[in-house]
Amino acid sequence: MKAKALIAYLSYSGNTEEVAEILQETAESRGLHIDIHRIGIDPPIDPEAYQYIFIGTFTWEEGSTPDEVKDFVLEVGCKPDNVAVFGTGDTQFGGDRIFCGAAEKLAKFYNSPWPPLKIEQSPRGSQEKIVKEWMEGVLEHGESAR
Ligand SMILES: Cc1cc2nc3c(=O)[nH]c(=O)nc-3n(C[C@H](O)[C@H](O)[C@H](O)COP(=O)(O)O)c2cc1C
Repeated sequence: MKAKALIAYLSYSGNTEEVAEILQETAESRGLHIDIHRIGIDPPIDPEAYQYIFIGTFTWEEGSTPDEVKDFVLEVGCKPDNVAVFGTGDTQFGGDRIFCGAAEKLAKFYNSPWPPLKIEQSPRGSQEKIVKEWMEGVLEHGESAR
């Protein structure tokens, strides 16, 4: 059976959604089946159905995690060991310390084996390569660990 991964994300103005799209394309080109979950919109997921769970969030108010993402974490209700986190942010909102703070916190919460992917605003253009390489890194590490 084809391996399956979930990409769950929250995006208000589209940046995190664009990262999710690039991640989806990259994973599908490597033969993974991807389910998309729009946090706060789609029905609850079954975390056990996936080989990888990708969670994407932007960062808000002094490095905070959006409420919808906190609700999603509660809804999942367990800490799967295969969560990889991606996020977008903006260094103009307080610099490196709180840049993509929500993605940092989420990766720590899930003890993610992968460093969180942090993208400045839209990934289109020069950062696209970083997004693709991060996904390839996660999948390579995942294959060798299993
Ligand atoms: C009110 C407000 C507060 C923000 N605070 C932060 C922050 O503390 N850290 C950060 O990295 N980005 C911060 N941002 C930037 C957003 O996270 C960034 O624009 C993100 O790409 C938006 O994602 P989206 O397009 O998927 O909604 C803030 C944006 C707004 C509007």
